[in-house]
Amino acid sequence: MQKLWAGRFQEGASSLLDEFNASLLFDRELYKEDIAGSIAHAKMLAKQEIIKESESKEIIRGLESIKTEIDCGEFIFDIADEDIHMAIEKRLIELVGEVGKKLHTARSRNDQVALDFRLYTLNSSKEIRVQLIENIKTLLEIASKNCEVMIPGMTHLQHAQPINFGFHLLAYISMFKRDVERLDSLIERNNYLPLGCAALAGTPYNSDRDFLSKELGFKEPTINCLDTVSDRDFALDILFAISVAMMHISRLSEELILWSSYEFRFVTIDDKYATGSSIMPQKKNPDVPELLRGKTGRVYGNLISLLTVMKGLPLAYNKDTQEDKEGVFDSVKTIKISLKILKEVMATLRINKENMERACKIGHLSATDLADYLVQKCSIPFREAHFITGKAVAYAEKKEKDLSELDLEELQEVDSRIKKEALESLKLINSMNARDSKGGTATKETLRQCEYFKRWLEGLEVG
Ligand code: ARG
Repeated sequence: MQKLWAGRFQEGASSLLDEFNASLLFDRELYKEDIAGSIAHAKMLAKQEIIKESESKEIIRGLESIKTEIDCGEFIFDIADEDIHMAIEKRLIELVGEVGKKLHTARSRNDQVALDFRLYTLNSSKEIRVQLIENIKTLLEIASKNCEVMIPGMTHLQHAQPINFGFHLLAYISMFKRDVERLDSLIERNNYLPLGCAALAGTPYNSDRDFLSKELGFKEPTINCLDTVSDRDFALDILFAISVAMMHISRLSEELILWSSYEFRFVTIDDKYATGSSIMPQKKNPDVPELLRGKTGRVYGNLISLLTVMKGLPLAYNKDTQEDKEGVFDSVKTIKISLKILKEVMATLRINKENMERACKIGHLSATDLADYLVQKCSIPFREAHFITGKAVAYAEKKEKDLSELDLEELQEVDSRIKKEALESLKLINSMNARDSKGGTATKETLRQCEYFKRWLEGLEVG
C-alpha cells in the first residue's frame, strides 16, 4: 500500500525504515485525542466553508466509527502507516472514500501531534491530580487518628525530639499538596491550543483557531506557530511534576521499609502487599514500597531523556521529537499504578503504637527540654544549659537509663540548681506538647493542621 506522502518518491520504503521510523506501536495511545482533534477540525473546516457541511458530516461519521473500531480492538494497526495520525487518516479514506482526503486541509501532522500529545498530557495531569487527592485523604484520615501517638522525631536518622505520628504524616500530606498545586499550574500554563499552526508557519486557509480552541476545551490558541510545533515544555512539565511526586512517594516508601523492619516495628504492612522469600521461610518483604522507591529512578530517567532530546533542536519540528512520547506514557502509567497501590498500602497499614512509644524512651528525646528548663527557670545562659544537659545525658547513659527516667536526686547530682519542676519538662509527652508554635508537633497544633488540610480539600475543585 502506498504511503499517504508518496507523491515525490520513486521507490517504496524499506521495511527497516518502517520499523525504525514508525511510532505507531506506541503513539496509538493517542487515538482518542487524535480523533477528537480531527472531529473539531472537520467542524471548523465546514464552519469556515473550506469544505461542505455534508462532507464534514461524512468525515465525522467515519472518525466516530474508527474510534469504535479501536475501542473494540478491531482496528488493524500496520506500522507501514508510520503513526496514529496516518493510520486513522488512511482508514478514514477507506471508510468514507474521496471526501476523507479533505480532512488534512489547513493542518499538518506537526500541529496535529502537538495537539494530541498536549491533550494527553493535560488529561493525564487531571487524572493524577485526582489520585493524589485521594491519597491525601487516606493519609489525613490516619493522621487525624494519631495525633497523640508519640514517635521519635529524627534528624540524621538519629533520635531527636518526640513528635506524634499524625504530625509525621502531615509532612507527606504537605508534599502531596504541593504536587497537586504543581499539576494545577502546569495545566493552566499549557492550556493553549496548538492546532491550526500547520507545519510551522500557519496556514493560508481562513481557519478559525478560536473556534477550535473552544471546541477542544482550551483557554485560547497559542501565540506563535513556530514555537508551538516544536514546543514540548508541556511534556517536560508533566515529567518534572511526576518526578517530584514520585520522589515524595519514594521518601514515604523508604520510611515504610525502615518502619516495618525488626529494628523499628512501627508499622506492619498488610500481607496483601508483602511477599515472601523463596528460600527463607520466615521472611516478609516490603516489595511494594521498595518498587515504589525503585520506579522513581525510571521516572527521573524519562525526564532527563526528554530534556536531552530537546536541547539541540533547531526550529521548528524535527523528527527527534517523536522520541518525546514513550517516556511520558511510561511515567504517567508508573505514577498512576504507584498512587493506586500506595493508597491501599496506607489504608491497610497496621500502626504499632506501643512500639512507637517505646522507641521514644531511647535516645534522650527530651534533652532539649532540660536545657530550656535551665534557661527559663534557673536563668542559666543557653550555652551553659546545653553543657549541663550534655553531662546529664552522659550520666543517664552510664546508668543505662533514658534522661526522662532519671529521678530528682540523680539530676541534682549533675547540677544542684535543678528542681522538681524539671521532672515535668523531661516527660516525653510534655516535651512534645510544649512545641505548640504554629506548625509544631503539639497534639493541639497538629489537630489544627489536620483541620487546615480538611478545609483545603473541601475547597478544591475535583475532576
Ligand atoms: N509521528 C510523528 C511524531 O510523533 C508525527 C509528526 C510527524 N511529522 C513529520 N513532519 N514527519 O512526532
